[in-house]
Formats: sequence, C-alpha cells, structure tokens
Amino acid sequence: MNSNWKTTKVLGLMILANFLIYIVVEVSRSYGQGRDIYSRRKLTPKTFWKKQEVSPAFWNREQDRLDDIYYLTLANGSKAPNRLQGITSWLNGTSPCKLDVRVTTEIEDFKSLPQRFQDFLLYMGCRSYPLITDAPNVCSEPPYLLLAVKSIAPHFDRRQAIRESWGRTGILDGRRIATVFLLGKADATDHFPDLSEMVKHEAALYGDILQWDYRDSFFNLTLKEVLFLEWFGTHCASAKYVFKGDDDVFVNTRQLLAYLGNFSVPKTKDLFIGDVISNAGPHRTRNLKYYIPESVFRGAYPPYAGGGGYLYSGNLGLRLRTISHMVTLYPIDDVYTGMCLKRLGLVPEKHMGFKTFDIEEKHRENPCAYKTLILVHPRSPQDMIKIWSWINDPKAKCYIAPTQDTKGAKRRRKNK
Ligand SMILES: *[C@@H]1O[C@H](CO)[C@@H](O)[C@H](O)[C@H]1NC(C)=O
Ligand SMILES: *[C@@H]1O[C@H](CO)[C@@H](O)[C@H](O)[C@H]1NC(C)=O
Ligand SMILES: *[C@@H]1O[C@H](CO)[C@@H](O)[C@H](O)[C@H]1NC(C)=O
Ligand SMILES: *[C@@H]1O[C@H](CO)[C@@H](O)[C@H](O)[C@H]1NC(C)=O
Repeated sequence: MNSNWKTTKVLGLMILANFLIYIVVEVSRSYGQGRDIYSRRKLTPKTFWKKQEVSPAFWNREQDRLDDIYYLTLANGSKAPNRLQGITSWLNGTSPCKLDVRVTTEIEDFKSLPQRFQDFLLYMGCRSYPLITDAPNVCSEPPYLLLAVKSIAPHFDRRQAIRESWGRTGILDGRRIATVFLLGKADATDHFPDLSEMVKHEAALYGDILQWDYRDSFFNLTLKEVLFLEWFGTHCASAKYVFKGDDDVFVNTRQLLAYLGNFSVPKTKDLFIGDVISNAGPHRTRNLKYYIPESVFRGAYPPYAGGGGYLYSGNLGLRLRTISHMVTLYPIDDVYTGMCLKRLGLVPEKHMGFKTFDIEEKHRENPCAYKTLILVHPRSPQDMIKIWSWINDPKAKCYIAPTQDTKGAKRRRKNK
C-alpha cells in the first residue's frame, strides 16, 4: 500500500512536469510563429492557448523563416535585428545557388501553377548570379544622379535613344549624370536570337552595360533589382540620387534635377518618390499578368511606386540593399521594393509628375505638356528624341497653360 501511494505520487509529479514543459514549449513556439511582416500580431491571453496560425502561402512561410534567422524576439515581445546571425546567413547567401525542390512538395498545387511560377519558385532562394559584363568606369567620378534603366538585350534602339536624350551622360544643369543599363540573359531558352556578340560590342563601345548571368524574364525583374542594389553598394555608393526605371519611359531629367535642387536642405536620407499605389493586393484572376496564386502569397501589398520609374536617395539605396537580404524575393519587382521600404519603416511618396499611365491624348504632341512632368510612360525611341529636343529648345516657349492648371482654373470658375 505504501509503495503504491509512492508510485501514484511519482506519476502525478511526472504528469505535472510534462504539463509544465508542454506550456513552455508551446509559448516559445508561438513566439516564433505568425511573424508575417504585414500582420504582426501581439500575443494576448486569448491567443495564448490557441495554436498560432501560420499562413499556408509559401512566400509568407519563407518570410517567417528569414525572420527567424534575422530577428531576435526581445523580452517585451518586440523584435530587433540579430546582427551576428544576419552576417553569417548573408555570407551563406553568396554561396552557389541550387534548385529548391522543396517547393514541389510544400506547395500543394505546384504542378498546376503556370510555368512562370514554377520557374520562379524553384529558384526563389537564389539571388547571387555572376556579373558577365561590368561597367567599371560609370561611377569613377561619383554622379549626382545615377540613371539605372531596366532593359533586355534586343532593345538596342531604346538604349541608344536614351543615350541620345534623357539619359545622356556628362554634366546637365551643373550636375553629373551617369547611366547604366541593367540586363540579364535573353537566349534560346526564350527563343531569342543570339545577340551576345552585339551586346559585347555595345558594352565595349559605351561602357554602360551591366549584364548578369540569369534569364531575363518578367518574374526575374526582382533579381534585377537586388543585383543592381548589390552593384550600387559596391561600385557607385557615393551617387547622391538614383533613378531606376524602364526603357520605354521618357524622363524629363532637367525637371528631376530641378525637383532635387529645390530643397532648402538636400533630402539625402529618406527620399523615395514615384507613382505610388496604395491599398493594393494580389490579383487572383489566373489570366492576368499580375496574377498571384493564393498558395504563393497572402496579404495586402504595402504602398509601392510603379516600376516604370522612381527616384530615391543614394543613402536609401544602400539601406534598401541591406534590408533586401531580409525580404524574400517576390515575383513582382515594384511590390518587392515596397516590401523592403516597409521593412525600413518608410512609405514611398506620390509625386504627380510621374505619369506612368500617360497624359491625356490631346496633350501628347504639345511640347509644353512635358516641361513640368518628370516621367511619362510609354514612349518610343523616336518620341524620346523628339520630346527631349522640345525640352531643350529655348525657343519652344509655353503659351498654353499646363493641363492641371487649366483644369484647376475651370474648377475654380465653376465653384464661383
Ligand atoms: C522593447 O525593448 C527594446 C529594447 O530594450 C526597446 O528599444 C523597445 O522600445 C521596447 N518596445 C516596447 C514596445 O516597449
Ligand atoms: C549556413 O550554411 C550552413 C551550411 O549549409 C548551415 O549549416 C548554417 O545553418 C547556415 N547558417 C545560417 C545562419 O543560415
Ligand atoms: C530566373 O533566372 C534563373 C537563372 O537563369 C532561372 O533558372 C529561372 O528559371 C528564372 N526564373 C524565371 C521566373 O524566369
Ligand atoms: C519647388 O518648390 C516650390 C514650392 O514648394 C514648388 O511650387 C515648385 O513646384 C517646386 N519645383 C519643382 C521643380 O519641384
């Protein structure tokens, strides 16, 4: 009887101990979960007993994993960068890339996803590709404004028009301008003719081509972004400002400089402007260009500037480079940049001079319409050269009030 009582007591204690261990494990587990950067939930007594929800979408899970590497949970529940871990895993990140076959099993509908998603997901963890062509002299004299233009090999005419118009390197209005074109590889995989010798020749001729050894595709534009930021950090870090945009836009570089020169105190730290889109989220219609399946990403998009073109300070460029190591690649490059800004605690600023959806048709042939805007999309190579000549013609006086003012005046009259 005595020994029986002892056994019961020991058993009881063991059960109690197990229960306590269970609680400790569950609490520490729930701290590591649900770290979606867009829905940071605080632990409340209600969620204490509930198993923390982990988003079933792959991107969100990968971001959780990155957060576990880069962030420490402080005693008060807030998070701080874990510098030592961050540095070692950054070094890991520069190791050769391997195909990630986990995705074929971890994403339930992987096999039925459009091909471009399968391609993207298989290499999502990989962000280091060798530079095939460098432009080592572009920033030998630090530019005031670096223009980084996303292009693909066949678009020679666009690059040439940009060189001859808004992207001309040298001194403009007292400021040094430098231009680089960002290229991946356009080859037989996507049925491109072999233009590699032409690109080599062009690079030797102009010294403004940056080309990396990866497949140039829409979903790899985010790679272009992070590879450019790496290059910027190592080769052009003293540029004051960076404009990054497409090769089918017209940029009024003079107006851009006027805007930057207008600050009484130079905005060299937190400047990021463009055509900002807020309150957006992933499209769920399968045949759209911007379609994102629910198994890939869930949540809202942070405010982001349309990829046609945006302007930021060099200092912010360096911080974007660092933070990008902590943000999982996303198939849409401008949304990705918005995610990085959000991580930095910043919101891009909307500037009305960025016309990524063009201006009214009746003003498109009016030289005056271009004097005060910063960017307009889309424009052909010939348009670029024509509009640039309008902007630089001192005799092309503007007698017609710019669009917005006429509208404003009409509205004011109506109100009276
Ligand atoms: C949590 O602690 C850190 C460092 O001790 C502090 O910087 C942070 O402001 C604290 N956060 C809150 C929400 O109290
Ligand atoms: C770095 O890579 C090694 C070997 O693949 C791995 O064991 C280690 O956990 C990685 N470190 C980080 C911080 O990711
Ligand atoms: C991106 O580039 C890599 C390297 O060339 C390639 O393996 C992958 O399929 C590309 N992804 C997409 C979505 O095209
Ligand atoms: C310069 O600042 C003034 C006053 O804020 C503003 O009206 C003007 O549009 C600015 N000019 C440019 C080029 O941004």
